[in-house]
Amino acid sequence: MSIRTLDDLLAEGVSGRRVLVRADLNVPLDKQTGAITDDGRIRAVLPTLGALTEAGAKVIVCSHLGRPKGSPDPQFSLSPVAGRLGELLGAPVHFATDTVGESAQATVAALGDGEVALLENLRFNKGETSKDEAERGAFADQLAAFGDAYVDDAFGAVHRKHASVYDVPARLPHVAGRLVLREVEVLSTLTGNPERPYVVVLGGSKVSDKLAVIEALLPTVDRLLIGGGMCFTFLKAQGHEIGTSLCEEEMVETCRNLLERSEGKIMLPVDVVAADAFAPDAAHDVVPADGIPSHRVGLDIGPETVAGFAAALRGSSADGPANARTIFWNGPMGVFEMAAFANGTRGVAEAIAASDAFSVVGGGDSAAAVRALGLDEKSFGHISTGGGASLEYLEGKTLPGIAALEN
Ligand code: 3PG
Ligand code: MG
Repeated sequence: MSIRTLDDLLAEGVSGRRVLVRADLNVPLDKQTGAITDDGRIRAVLPTLGALTEAGAKVIVCSHLGRPKGSPDPQFSLSPVAGRLGELLGAPVHFATDTVGESAQATVAALGDGEVALLENLRFNKGETSKDEAERGAFADQLAAFGDAYVDDAFGAVHRKHASVYDVPARLPHVAGRLVLREVEVLSTLTGNPERPYVVVLGGSKVSDKLAVIEALLPTVDRLLIGGGMCFTFLKAQGHEIGTSLCEEEMVETCRNLLERSEGKIMLPVDVVAADAFAPDAAHDVVPADGIPSHRVGLDIGPETVAGFAAALRGSSADGPANARTIFWNGPMGVFEMAAFANGTRGVAEAIAASDAFSVVGGGDSAAAVRALGLDEKSFGHISTGGGASLEYLEGKTLPGIAALEN
């Protein structure tokens, strides 16, 4: 990979220079209070920001948050993120109330050496996500005007062909930040030559989102454990009654075909937690995966499944599967936000944490689950900040943000 890195930029000297950093500060917010519920993505860019401020750069950070529709929308303001970033850096962060307008211009102009500014949400501007090259380019011109150099540390967004990710690096000297480098380093070991057995755990709600990665992984993994909402489409493909559980009808045939081609590598739940309703206090029972009552909805994998998945991850008896040496996990096993349906995700996460394999947790949701369930982050080899980005990397797709750094 011929990508220049933050160290190359630091070696040139950045004191007094304006460095534009694209970060992914798209953190989950509490729907009621607007408070940040998981600051993992903010902490993940601190090494890059710290190195730049220490070297005396004027650091201008930009990011998206949520999916506003190209104009200002207060519920997606980065203002709370500026506050949290300042706490973590131990220095105030100058917040611009627009992205490239008067406030941003004044904030950047007033920035001292070693100081940090955060621009308002990139997606408050149509140009950021536009499919029209000229419209994107015009916005990229405005952003690029704020920097003498560009650092991409937004791994979670490298799969997006957006102005700040793809077009700005074409306009400024550009390097990869510490987070992007580390993410690519780790994920490339998974696509390269992972130590075996290599076990992948996939969850989350939709098969259609994961289809490409399942196709890409099947030939390379030793085991593929499937839980979460997407497992029900597979169970249906096996001919089982799944009640009112999540199902993508148009994917049933595809799942049947995947199961046929999987050479027994795919492991599905043998029991599930089935509830009367999608609610935290709904009545629920553990039922066999081939006998979900017709009026019930599966909201988690059951205890026998957790034990089976744990055995596949950790290794079991002498004649059982060997200890996994490499693990990739993306997607919760159930509705972990509701305590009654969190045991599957917790059990699998604990099994991964307990294993001595090199483990990679991919994705916003699974990473948030690790922290929400109070597990020790250090018992995982790597917790990726990218959900879609890490999946697309494993699919072998060209990631626009990485391609832009290579040029
Ligand atoms: C994410 O959370 O997946 C990244 O921040 C990218 O956001 P997006 O899916 O809205 O482009
Ligand atoms: Mg996403």
